[in-house]
This record gives sequence, structure tokens and C-alpha cells, in this order.
Amino acid sequence: MDNPIVLQNVSKLFTHPMKIWQKVEAVSNLSITIRKGEITGIVGHNGAGKTTTLKMIMGFIRPTSGTISLFGKEAGSPEALQHIGFLPEHPYFYSHLTAWEILTYFGSLSGMSSKNLATAKERVLKKVGLYNDKDRPLRTFSKGMLQRIGIAQAIIHDPELIILDEPMSGLDPAGRREVKELILELKKQGKSVVLSSHILSDIEILSDRILVLTKGKVESWGTLKEIIPTSSVQWIFSFDVPDSEKDALFAEIKDIKMDGAQLSIVKQSKQEMNETIKDILSRGYDVYSAGPVYPTLEEIVFEKKEVNNA
Ligand SMILES: Nc1ncnc2c1ncn2[C@@H]1O[C@H](COP(=O)(O)OP(=O)(O)O)[C@@H](O)[C@H]1O
Ligand SMILES: [Mg+2]
Repeated sequence: MDNPIVLQNVSKLFTHPMKIWQKVEAVSNLSITIRKGEITGIVGHNGAGKTTTLKMIMGFIRPTSGTISLFGKEAGSPEALQHIGFLPEHPYFYSHLTAWEILTYFGSLSGMSSKNLATAKERVLKKVGLYNDKDRPLRTFSKGMLQRIGIAQAIIHDPELIILDEPMSGLDPAGRREVKELILELKKQGKSVVLSSHILSDIEILSDRILVLTKGKVESWGTLKEIIPTSSVQWIFSFDVPDSEKDALFAEIKDIKMDGAQLSIVKQSKQEMNETIKDILSRGYDVYSAGPVYPTLEEIVFEKKEVNNA
């Protein structure tokens, strides 16, 4: 009941837009539980089924089969919707309205009283850093500012769950950073956030749990550590050796890397790393740091692709 979103065996078939006798399976047998207070990232290439999944969660479209519940309520029901804020993939705002006016519009749509709305508008505009621009028409806003207004409208009614479809797309690095910081800020307040992206690195840093979709199917689901194959984790330690002894050590032990003044060795398993550390210590040298190196999400998905295509 406490879990904000539970999807069970959810599939969505569309009729092919050109060949009406063909079906497109946009989402295939998806079962995941999204947990309270976490950031969940949905990642996949264009056409992977991210937007379709989010639209079904919002209740804009219905699954062909399977069930979706939000806070124990049916997706799309008014009881479910009042807990959710949503930023669509391509939000459209009336460009002649000011930031203040557009939030009045969205706030009234979610049934807020004018008194609550006035304080809520001030609160969210400050949060997204646009309070000083509140009287400017949106047509004078940069893409990053528009995206922040999009997030402001999604959180105006203080929802428990915020769903953001490609919130970082089309933004420059500064804009991406701003949006990421905002998302982390929402999490700090105890909100649950679901966001989609086709850019793995954006999702990777933010998300507690990640869903990787490939052509509508679940490629991986879990924490970053869970979805990384243990075989792709490497183990690294760094150590120091007096300059006069370096050449001799380099000749004796291969795979030593120079990282500035420090030396390091990468091993494929923890055991191999520990054995090499013992060797280094027995020679009287200092070891500074040791631990696993996880591949990036980009590398995992890329590696899997190579295996699949082999
Ligand atoms: N209304 C629709 N009618 C037919 N096919 C659709 C419709 N919406 C999405 N699709 C198809 O479903 C697949 C998944 O699309 P989408 O969920 O938008 O992917 P993503 O958001 O990951 O890029 C794509 O093949 C897309 O062409
Ligand atoms: Mg999409």
C-alpha cells in the first residue's frame, strides 16, 4: 500500500501507425515496484517504451494487459492523480503568459484555492530559482528556464510522487545540472521521483533504482550495483614507492599504472587485489586506498549489446 507505484505484468500493444494490420509491442510484461522516497530512473534508447510506461502510470493510456496501482488506487483515477505531479516529454506552455500566470493556470486545474495557490506559487518559483522572473512572459525564457517552469507546475500541488519524462533533454550542461539538483532536492523532502532519459549518465548519478528498457522489454532492473554484472567490477589499489626503486618494481610487476605521483594496480577480482596488496606491503611500501571500480551504466548496456550481437 505504501509503495507509490506497482506495475504487474503490464504490456501495451499499439496498432502500427502505417500498417494497421501490425501491432507494435511498446511495453512487454513489465513488473516493477517503485518505492517511496526513491529516485527511479527509466533509461533506454528512443522507442524503448519509456514514455508509454509513464503515460500508463499517469493513466492517460491503459495497458493492453496487466495492472497498475498508485498508492493502492487504480492508475488514472482522481484519487491517484491528486498525489502525482507530471512533466510531459514535450510540455507546451502559452508563451504569452508569465511564469506567475501559468502557475495560476496549472494550480487552479489541480483544484487549489486561490489563497493556497498564492503561497504555493511563491514557494515553487523560489524552489526552481525563477521567483525574480515571475512577471516575464515565457517566450523570453531559455530552454532551461522553461524546463524549470515545467517542474514548478508539476510540484505546485505538493504531490508525493513526481514523474518527469526526459526532464534533461535539450538542456546545456548548466541546465542539466540545475534540473538534477532540483530532483535531488525533491528527494531530500521525501518525495518519490520517476524520471526517464535516453542519456545513461544523467540517470546513473541520480537514481536509487534503474530500469533499463530495450524495445519494450526489461533489460535490467535494480540498484546500480545490482544491475552491474560482478564480472565487470574491477579492483584497484594505490601505493607509493620511492623514486629510486620505481624502475626495478616496474620491471618486476607488470600492470602498474602511474597516476600523477601515485602508483596503482587494477585487478579483476578482490582476491587477486588482496594478494598483490600483501606483496606490496611485504616489500615495505605504503598502500593508500583500495576498493572496487564499478563500470558506468553506459559501459554495462554497451557491453551487453556487444554480447547480444556476437
Ligand atoms: N500512439 C502510438 N501508436 C502507435 N505506436 C506508438 C504510439 N506511441 C508509441 N508508439 C510506439 O511504441 C514504441 C515505444 O514508444 P515510446 O514509449 O514513445 O518510447 P520512448 O519514450 O522510450 O522513446 C515505439 O516503437 C513507438 O513508435
Ligand atoms: Mg519518450
